[in-house]
Amino acid sequence: MKSPPMYICLCNSYTDKDIAFAVSEGGARCADSAYKVLGSDFNCGSCRDCAQCVVDDTLEGQPLQHSTGPDILPAPVLMAAE
Ligand code: FES
Repeated sequence: MKSPPMYICLCNSYTDKDIAFAVSEGGARCADSAYKVLGSDFNCGSCRDCAQCVVDDTLEGQPLQHSTGPDILPAPVLMAAE
């Protein structure tokens, strides 16, 4: 079953799926490069550790880890794909 995205970065409205996309499709290998691929940088930085966990899990081929959350479209990914 496909899980809905979970917000990782509230400053940039990035979800775990946005960050995983930056790794799998954009070649990012760390949280900093993932944010650059998505078109921004850290602002407050409170999401850095969680974003890095998503990067690490994606690089290891592990499924994203969460079970609840709103079923929304990840706007930054849609904008990057256009
Ligand atoms: S929550 Fe990600 S930079 Fe602030």
